[in-house]
Amino acid sequence: MSEAVKTWHVLEILKVTEEAFLKKGISNSRLNAELLLCHATGDKRIELYLNYDKPLTQIEVSNYREFVKRRLNFEPLQYIIGKTEFYGLTINVNKNVLIPRQETELLIDKTLEYINDNKFKLPKILEIGTGSGCIAISIAANAECIINAIDISIEAIELAKVNAANNSLKGEINFLVSDFLKGDISFEEYDIIVSNPPYIPSVEVPHLNTEVHAFEPYFALTDGADGLKFYIKIFELYNSTYKKPQVFLELGDGKKNNIIKILNNFKITDYNLYNDLIKIPRVLELKGSR
Ligand SMILES: C[S@@+](CC[C@H](N)C(=O)[O-])C[C@H]1O[C@@H](n2cnc3c(N)ncnc32)[C@H](O)[C@@H]1O
Repeated sequence: MSEAVKTWHVLEILKVTEEAFLKKGISNSRLNAELLLCHATGDKRIELYLNYDKPLTQIEVSNYREFVKRRLNFEPLQYIIGKTEFYGLTINVNKNVLIPRQETELLIDKTLEYINDNKFKLPKILEIGTGSGCIAISIAANAECIINAIDISIEAIELAKVNAANNSLKGEINFLVSDFLKGDISFEEYDIIVSNPPYIPSVEVPHLNTEVHAFEPYFALTDGADGLKFYIKIFELYNSTYKKPQVFLELGDGKKNNIIKILNNFKITDYNLYNDLIKIPRVLELKGSR
């Protein structure tokens, strides 16, 4: 006689998963369980709440189990569900791109403020290390502009193009595969440079959370050295540009003093630092002369 297959209901399966996540130390355990179940069933979160007694189909349960297994192995939720929210937009993500972080939204705020305050007609912008395209797309969703967005990763550029096509944009973005550190890019044609470069020193990478170091792309996290290579190259290019662009760069936690030393070495004095919501200096702005 074949054994009867258990029928799972929404609330019951959520409770079991929440406990399993809690035991593993996975934060926001209930939210994770809910979002994975939505991904397995195609339901919205509100629909889960309204249908706690709903029985799940065998296919839903088996897909859900697979997602939960991956999450218990510390794969980030965003890679499992394939998307995240950034600056009010939906951005698709996969293992080839860094998951956009909330603190990066300050970079968009500062860039858009500058564009609006200066009443630019059609600013020309370079984004270095675009990844999922989240920065270029958020700027172009809110301002008429022309952006060249570069990344060393072909796979990242492919995804960024899909993300741009999925969002409604006022500006135009050209995505290009290019190695910023090796290429001979000039800042001369740009009004604005924006970047969230890979800034974690390589020695720190193995000590990051498993979710980050085991799943996010190594060269999205670090420059393979002290985490300062991109800043130095950007400062060199800025200094050698006659009509200087405005520059907006994200900084890592605790990097302020190192960056100020390097700015002093480059004799760059016209800059601002902006704190994020938890008072960490997060955005460096170099003043332009255009
Ligand atoms: C910190 S991630 C930022 C991704 C995205 N802009 C964001 O804020 O979520 C840095 C990006 O720089 C790219 N990158 C690394 N080395 C590069 C290089 N030499 N030239 C161009 N891009 C590079 C990585 O592929 C990665 O997408």
